[in-house]
Amino acid sequence: MPKPRPLVAGNWKMNGSKASAAELGKILQGAGETAGKVDLMVCPPATLILAFAAATRDSPVQIGGQDCHAEPAGAFTGDISAEMLADAGAVAAIVGHSERRTYHKETDAEVRAKARAALRAGLTAIVCIGETREEREAHKTLDVVALQLDGSLPDGATAANVVVAYEPVWAIGTGLTPTPADVADVHGFIRRRLAERFGAEGEGIRILYGGSVKPANAKELMAVAEVNGALVGGASLKADDFLGIAAAYRD
Ligand code: 13P
Repeated sequence: MPKPRPLVAGNWKMNGSKASAAELGKILQGAGETAGKVDLMVCPPATLILAFAAATRDSPVQIGGQDCHAEPAGAFTGDISAEMLADAGAVAAIVGHSERRTYHKETDAEVRAKARAALRAGLTAIVCIGETREEREAHKTLDVVALQLDGSLPDGATAANVVVAYEPVWAIGTGLTPTPADVADVHGFIRRRLAERFGAEGEGIRILYGGSVKPANAKELMAVAEVNGALVGGASLKADDFLGIAAAYRD
């Protein structure tokens, strides 16, 4: 399978308001530079998906959600289903982000059910995994990543319907990043495991790196083998930074 086209996705987390349409507009203005070379996605809070999907129609920028419920509908106050995200114009849903695993105690089984729901609704599931600082210091990174991968990925994952995001918890929002050699170790391990479980499709599933990606370090991270893009938090809130990161993945 040919090397997958990079994906740079911005996870806005719980940030943004109607006024953020202006920042999205700046992203749209710059998106032409990377069109055809890098896929761009913005994952705003759920309140903005409908408007952002309308604003990005016929553009190279796609819209994703940040989470979904496993069920398609029902008595789940405050939750949003994958079908609702698709209805609002999203094409993907992040599932299993470390903030949801930590603050909402989501387990691998729950993350897998959410990923399955995303596929059921025709969305791409962006499945997040990654070790804590304690786990890294105890040399358990690959064990943790293996368990999360096995437990969180749905059967039937393909290069088209699943993206894996490796986000070391200790690198999120801290300005710290693993060394390129450490990223290469983990991404290479993930690739082998995907290929074992999903065959040729596993060779094509994109593996994003996430955690303190900035324009200044994007090129170095993109150069690492088996890094197929980035999941960007803080830096995705500023159009210039987000586009600067995408530019590193363009050449
Ligand atoms: P930062 O880029 O702010 O470190 O966040 C990464 C992240 O959690 C993306 O999902």
